[in-house]
Amino acid sequence: MSRQYQAVHQVSRPTGRAVAENFAFVEGEFPPPAAGTALVENVYLSVDPYMREAMDEGHWELNAPLEGRAIGRVIESRTPELAVGDLVFHRHAWRTHAVLTPSEARLLPAIDGVPLSTHLSLLGGTGLSAYVGLTRVLRLQPGESIFISAAAGGVGSAAGQFARLLGAGRIIGSAGSAAKVAHLTERAGFDAAFDYHDGPVAELLGAAAPEGIDTFLDNVGGDHLEGALEVLRDHGRIAWCGAIAQYSTEPPPAPRNLYNVVHKALRMEGFLVRQHLDAQQELTDFLVPHLRAGRVRADETVVAGFENVVGAFLGMLDGANIGKMLVQVADLG
Ligand SMILES: NC(=O)c1ccc[n+]([C@@H]2O[C@H](COP(=O)([O-])OP(=O)(O)OC[C@H]3O[C@@H](n4cnc5c(N)ncnc54)[C@H](OP(=O)(O)O)[C@@H]3O)[C@@H](O)[C@H]2O)c1
Repeated sequence: MSRQYQAVHQVSRPTGRAVAENFAFVEGEFPPPAAGTALVENVYLSVDPYMREAMDEGHWELNAPLEGRAIGRVIESRTPELAVGDLVFHRHAWRTHAVLTPSEARLLPAIDGVPLSTHLSLLGGTGLSAYVGLTRVLRLQPGESIFISAAAGGVGSAAGQFARLLGAGRIIGSAGSAAKVAHLTERAGFDAAFDYHDGPVAELLGAAAPEGIDTFLDNVGGDHLEGALEVLRDHGRIAWCGAIAQYSTEPPPAPRNLYNVVHKALRMEGFLVRQHLDAQQELTDFLVPHLRAGRVRADETVVAGFENVVGAFLGMLDGANIGKMLVQVADLG
């Protein structure tokens, strides 16, 4: 049994965009697991936008193990709660292996017809963000129109599909390339989509939604929020999920039209998925029948190889992904 591992540490703070030189690969060997722990070989790692914020001062420690969502397989155990072969969700990502206590691991059930990686995409924090954004924050009603920014990404592509299943009316998405726009309208069930590079968001959104929009799930902030504030109808609602437009830059000025919140009697509410983990079972019950019936597609971009984890993270920030960006670091076995 080899206990050798590779890991990625952050070694410097980025100024603006993160670069590969902010990270370093390290190697080591674990001792045999102590009583009450288990050695896990990671299979899938999640790379996420919040990690860019975590790279700034006051968050991740330099030259230390990094956190992140991961799925692994128990390969050696000295605790009765984790058996060799068990598949677990945990937060020791950015490495090939991890030593876990049972309280750090959540056993993943095998769900017939649902691939393992789905536990990090549609059934993971990504899908849960989309689900609570729609059901608990927007409280989307059948027939209501919705605009989703970063629509071809993990949260966005989940939200578009969930909105359809929840009976939404017109579903509009924005994304960063013509290929992503085509993906949204031809495969992901969006009624309309636009490339935000093609002009001011308010104009592009206004053309895609001539009657205005009832609701907005925002993953981008900045120009997208300003554009949506222009096009939202009176009493419209905004669920603010993320602001990827500002994670690598100084915060942009607040939208110049923020007063539209008053003028149009809008409701805007931010949320953090970690405050809604109690919705996980509800999401599973809602989604699994749709996954099995093929009514939902788990859009994922899966990069192979631990040596590519930094590239996958940087690529995701630059829009290299369609759906959830994952890194596969071991075979499924
Ligand atoms: N509130 C919460 O608890 C919570 C939980 C999960 C995620 N989030 C937030 O939700 C958002 C999406 O997360 P995700 O994991 O699903 O990531 P993702 O959308 O899969 O990946 C990020 C995407 O953002 C887009 N992007 C990058 N820079 C942009 C810019 N300046 N303007 C517009 N789009 C830009 C890129 O796509 P394009 O090619 O389209 O530019 C990229 O693919 C993020 O803001 C994240 O922080 C929040």
